[in-house]
Amino acid sequence: MAAYEYETHQYDVVVVGAGGAGLRATLGMAEQGLRTACVTKVFPTRSHTVAAQGGIAASLSNMGPDNWQWHMFDTVKGSDWLGDTDAMEYLAREAPKAVYELEHYGVPFSRTEEGKIYQRPFGGHTTEFGDGPPVQRTCAAADRTGHAILHTLYGQSLKQKAEFYIEYFAIDLIMSEDGQCQGVVCWKLDDGTMHVFNAKMVVLATGGYGRAYFSATSAHTCTGDGGGMVARAGLPLQDMEFVQFHPTGIYGSGCLITEGARGEGGYLTNSEGERFMERYAPNYKDLAPRDYVSRSMTMEIREGRGVGADGDHIHLNLSHLPPEALHERLPGISESARIFAGVDVTKEPIPVLPTVHYNMGGIPTNYWGEVVSPTAEDQNAVVPGLMAVGEAGCASVHGANRLGSNSLIDLVVFGRAAAIRAGKVVDPDAPNPKLNQTSVDAAFDRFDRLRNASGAVPTAELRLEMQKTMQADAAVFRTSKTLAEGVEKMDAIAAKLDDLSVSDRSLVWNSDLMETLELTNLMPNALATITGAEARHESRGAHAHEDFATRDDDNWRVHTISHVNGNNVELSYRPVVIDPLTTEAEGGIELKKIAPKARTF
Ligand code: FUM
Repeated sequence: MAAYEYETHQYDVVVVGAGGAGLRATLGMAEQGLRTACVTKVFPTRSHTVAAQGGIAASLSNMGPDNWQWHMFDTVKGSDWLGDTDAMEYLAREAPKAVYELEHYGVPFSRTEEGKIYQRPFGGHTTEFGDGPPVQRTCAAADRTGHAILHTLYGQSLKQKAEFYIEYFAIDLIMSEDGQCQGVVCWKLDDGTMHVFNAKMVVLATGGYGRAYFSATSAHTCTGDGGGMVARAGLPLQDMEFVQFHPTGIYGSGCLITEGARGEGGYLTNSEGERFMERYAPNYKDLAPRDYVSRSMTMEIREGRGVGADGDHIHLNLSHLPPEALHERLPGISESARIFAGVDVTKEPIPVLPTVHYNMGGIPTNYWGEVVSPTAEDQNAVVPGLMAVGEAGCASVHGANRLGSNSLIDLVVFGRAAAIRAGKVVDPDAPNPKLNQTSVDAAFDRFDRLRNASGAVPTAELRLEMQKTMQADAAVFRTSKTLAEGVEKMDAIAAKLDDLSVSDRSLVWNSDLMETLELTNLMPNALATITGAEARHESRGAHAHEDFATRDDDNWRVHTISHVNGNNVELSYRPVVIDPLTTEAEGGIELKKIAPKARTF
């Protein structure tokens, strides 16, 4: 057994991760007087939410008619009928409240002439239950909305005396023999000390796992740490095969160019200068949802109408927009285009390509953020002491495809919901759960094994192999052949985790070891993704399977549940929640409005 000295910290709640969801949860917990710690591997305002550009969806009706039922309908349709209806109602209903709270906390939103929060159009957000024109629903702070939200929530959390443990890496969850989460074991990166956080509630807000792929808009820190810890604790992941490709990553670097660029009037063209989205989505054109636009771009490239010397990308045109509008509404992406593509957006198109952007799947939860581990008796069985929010979680509001700007609202609505729920289930006067020492020791043992790994494969080499395989075989379009080959390759790649070589044995700022721990988190996420994709014999949302080209609601309107144990992924399925929270008589949505139908735009 590895002998590491450690310090023990006692809290009511420990939040792991300080992005938008983690900070909103932290703030909400601390506001209620719960002793709250937020543990984060990066400085809070460097969490990946800082990169969110275009905005946050809420039916405020500041720019024209809108209501939560239209937002809910768009979310249901956007999810290709795989989202849980109760959670999607909760999201759309609570969104305006959550945004006004942000405003009152101090988020510097862009403003209309009358001083209201400015809202822009985003893909898939419509009026009249998809029969009307696009709606301006996405509340924006120029094209730096995530940055504005993150800074505000961090300041407010400090004001509420939440305690931050910055640059602490979470190694593993501490679980009791009977399946209760009791805390988390952490490594402090800057001085090499070890820490055990003992809490009545642990909230995983660790973000997505975009870095399982070679080209992603996600930060290098997006390594699915929550999913990795959950898998090692024997708990499931859900709907991992649904990976969103954002249509406009900058060709080459993968940096994000916000969908807000198309919301403000930008459009895509092929090598013939054609606005090809008019053919694929005659009504909503460039403002169709992301899965639609990414597939259309890929088809243009495949059919020989890509731009550039190799015909392998597409143009995003903004130069027809007034320079003052670009300056006021899209300053960040104008700068990114200059730095990463050498393009002056007032004069030239930006070269873009669909790029991995978001994981619809994650740790299954109910709409209060409580982690669910389905059993034969109870498909909604809650794991005591454990919550997951934000991209790490799967409530599931995005189903098979997320609408742009529904991510930031997911972060704050469900971060807030988790805090509301914790206020009910966490008793500040009760003693903390007695730690299961076996679980603590197991975390240190794993850490020590990796620290002393002396095999033949460097971490960076194995990571690259995984990223290239995922990029090639679990792509925008998938076939039975590519997926079967991908599963086989990933199986062999994951096996090499036992042959890793870590050259730095120190404990202080050991990035070799940290990246190795991250790789052990990325791997179960990647395995669940490709295995779930191979098994799903239909096309739905972001899962475009060329051998099963249509959606099959009779057999596949179900959530994929994956248990990852080493290289082995065991799949099972769980029903989608069909019933909304409220009936029509209670003011809820008319059921026939959200019944499954063909998804056209
Ligand atoms: O395009 C964007 O600004 C990204 C927003 C989102 O993913 O919600």
